[in-house]
Amino acid sequence: MLAVTADQLVQRYTMQPHPEGGYYKETYRCMQTIPQQVLSRRFAGERNISTAIYFLLEQGNFSAFHKIKSDECWHFYAGGPMNIYVIHINGNLETIKLGSDISHAQTFQHVVPSGCWFASEPATGSDFSFVGCTVAPGFDFDDFELAKAADLIKVYPQHKDLINRLCRQ
Ligand code: GUN
Repeated sequence: MLAVTADQLVQRYTMQPHPEGGYYKETYRCMQTIPQQVLSRRFAGERNISTAIYFLLEQGNFSAFHKIKSDECWHFYAGGPMNIYVIHINGNLETIKLGSDISHAQTFQHVVPSGCWFASEPATGSDFSFVGCTVAPGFDFDDFELAKAADLIKVYPQHKDLINRLCRQ
């Protein structure tokens, strides 16, 4: 059996371009909502309890530095490994290799904490990475912020090169 291609996955799941880069398709949005009064004050309204997407990045493309207000659990599905770069609030940079080769420090799942700036790209040699992202409370574009490189560098100058490479604005 031939391996699946990025184009096949994009077509099969009618994936759409994502503002951070790559393609996505929402696969789950819990019908139950959490009222705003019950949520942390950082949320500006009610939210679905949880959501999930497929996400696909091709080699040469990247998911630009952004942050969201929920923890985001990433899952590896197909293609080659993906590097996820997380800048923690204290400035520590964590690089996670999401993939299936557990003997080479890759992992099938990783949770990015809410409020951290993070970006991702297919690892060297990966044609594409096909992954999933689950968030709770559910994803809302009101909770999503793309980084401006100059602003992020002011806060984390030690990561200037990475930030300049993985931002679009
Ligand atoms: N739905 C639309 N965009 C996103 C995203 O970046 N992450 C998650 N988890 N869901 C989304």
